[in-house]
Amino acid sequence: MSDGSGEKIKKFVFKTKNPIIDGSTPETLEVIIPELLQASYNFYTWPSAPVLAWFLWEHRRELPGKRVLEIGAGTSLPGIVAAKCGAEVTLSDCASLPRSLQHCQRVCDVNGLTGRVRVIGLSWGLFLHNSFNLGPVDLILGSDCFYEPSLFEDILRGAQTGRSIIY
Ligand SMILES: C[S@@+](CC[C@H](N)C(=O)[O-])C[C@H]1O[C@@H](n2cnc3c(N)ncnc32)[C@H](O)[C@@H]1O
Repeated sequence: MSDGSGEKIKKFVFKTKNPIIDGSTPETLEVIIPELLQASYNFYTWPSAPVLAWFLWEHRRELPGKRVLEIGAGTSLPGIVAAKCGAEVTLSDCASLPRSLQHCQRVCDVNGLTGRVRVIGLSWGLFLHNSFNLGPVDLILGSDCFYEPSLFEDILRGAQTGRSIIY
């Protein structure tokens, strides 16, 4: 769906075949992702993001209370699923791309997560103020971040604080 402003709204729906209705985690989930047409690659949901989001959905009972960091979040689908399943989520994207960070915030807002998800600038390979204020992290998510071999080491070095990394 496009509203003529260059923004296209995508809806992702997650459902389970065998619901356990005990109220602890959702059994269906809708996530709204605004994408900007004709913009750069950070405003488009890359193919790994829905796959990672499904993986998280399948493991949703393990997510409540987990401290989750998404790096290179872009349109933030995996992080939003984790947040809606009860994780304490921080979304991050390159500190020198303020429009990307604004877009992460917009995705939170349209999904009713304003104030429940933190959005910060984190640049791979740079130890910025935000890197030191991050606090403990249980899980680091990254979808379609390994596309440029010269950045691999920077990404992994920046992710050393996390206990589990899922790419
Ligand atoms: C290919 S896109 C993937 C976006 C999103 N994770 C997805 O799967 O749809 C790569 C993302 O990494 C971010 N990025 C690129 N270089 C970065 C850097 N040096 N530090 C942090 N983020 C960076 C971009 O802004 C973009 O959001």
